[in-house]
Amino acid sequence: MRITLERQPLEQIETGALIVLVFEGRKETRFGAGDLTDAGEVAGKSLELTLLHRPPGVAATRVLLAGAGKPEKFDPAELRRVAGAAVRHLKSKSVKQIALALDPEHAGGEYAAAAVEGAILGEFEPDRYKTDAGDKKSVEAFAVVAAGGTGPALDEAVTRGRILAEAQNFTRGLVNEPANRLTPSKVAEAAQEMASEYQLECEVLERRQMEKLGMGALLGVAQGSAEPPALIVVRYRPAQTESKAHLGLVGKGVTFDTGGISIKPADGMEKMKYDMAGGAAMLGAMRAIAQLKPAIPVTAFIPCVENMPGSRAQRPGDIVTAMSGKTIEVINTDAEGRLILADALTYARQQGCTHLVDAATLTGAIVVALGHLNVGLFANDEAMRDRVLQAAKAEGERVWPMPLEDDYKEYLKSAFADLANVGGRWGGAITAAIFLKEFAGDTPWVHLDIAGTAWLDECKPFLAKGPSGVPVRTLVRLATEWKET
Ligand code: BES
Ligand code: ZN
Ligand code: ZN
Repeated sequence: MRITLERQPLEQIETGALIVLVFEGRKETRFGAGDLTDAGEVAGKSLELTLLHRPPGVAATRVLLAGAGKPEKFDPAELRRVAGAAVRHLKSKSVKQIALALDPEHAGGEYAAAAVEGAILGEFEPDRYKTDAGDKKSVEAFAVVAAGGTGPALDEAVTRGRILAEAQNFTRGLVNEPANRLTPSKVAEAAQEMASEYQLECEVLERRQMEKLGMGALLGVAQGSAEPPALIVVRYRPAQTESKAHLGLVGKGVTFDTGGISIKPADGMEKMKYDMAGGAAMLGAMRAIAQLKPAIPVTAFIPCVENMPGSRAQRPGDIVTAMSGKTIEVINTDAEGRLILADALTYARQQGCTHLVDAATLTGAIVVALGHLNVGLFANDEAMRDRVLQAAKAEGERVWPMPLEDDYKEYLKSAFADLANVGGRWGGAITAAIFLKEFAGDTPWVHLDIAGTAWLDECKPFLAKGPSGVPVRTLVRLATEWKET
């Protein structure tokens, strides 16, 4: 989809459909909409859509009145949703050229970026493997109309919105790939391809190198699969920087999670192709970071494995030695994410990262705790927690802080090793985070449990069903707004 910024008056915009925001309590009488308004059919309720053909007074073929809710509640997150819903609606009617008029009171850069993001994110469909071309509609062009706007700030915002949303869709595309087509080696190939396109460095550690590094926890998970594991490392280095900080992004890359010998029930298991959503988010974030060029060096670490049962698979009761030297009793082979992340976190620290964020579809328990609305956040450092919370807020990605007190460590006691990989029935998302904390050591670190938020079970008016691409935008904002303290 081609993205542009237009500064003409909206009456002059020639397009298939011009999206105009309508607010609750403000009667819209332009475009011949007075009767609709009087009849209460156009009330400005959030996501209410009314399509007008050949409206008077504008060059556009259609005007889509898009409800934006109460003006005092309106923010970039709301505009993102409205733009997405409007684009999806128009796309279903085969409209190819779309423009969105910013409301003059809400026409700053954050709004321009959000409109672009909403359009690009709304346009995405997980239909790559549908062969009937008739079902596949797409929008060719989307313009943000900022009538009378001047200066380069809006152009930059539109570009930034495009970069972010395209990165998020890149992540969604990867997450949507089925596990037969996206093995750990294929994730590595995709990473290498992306890295060379955006001038990033990419290195893939193979099993032999992992053995040399002593990554027993990661290798234990990998040993049950015929597919070899890969530890993907993607590096962004700013041209010039005085930054003493080095951000590490660690993402869980389980291309399929059967549970291993502690096998999962069949019902819903097909969804476990999205168990690499954390890793895909890190690749998406790096794709955007490469283009937005923050001052801080950033390195992504993505441990990729397939968690399978089989004659080679690790067993409950096995004891593995992690790269850090700690021994782990594997009580449940389905708690594999924390095992691969343990070694990736240790490696990230060894590589010089001073600050760490991991994202992982780690526990069903976080879905019980927060539902599908909020990412669960755990941190060993208040300043780092606040950085991530702030970035998430600015990007309209919902993240909720969870407790991470040392007392929970009790739950991970093992009679036979330094720690067990599961902590019993209660507080499952917290005990998983406590496990990771053992490997983050004294490095400021945030863990994001995205099991409930990385996949939408139902489509929304503004987003297709399937991978959400969370928390790509938060990670990028964290890097681009990094300030040394
Ligand atoms: N990949 C799953 C977590 C998950 C669950 C992601 C639901 C998405 C939706 C993870 O590897 C897992 O199986 N966790 C177990 C941990 C348990 C064995 C302690 C879980 O949450 O049930
Ligand atoms: Zn699992
Ligand atoms: Zn898993």
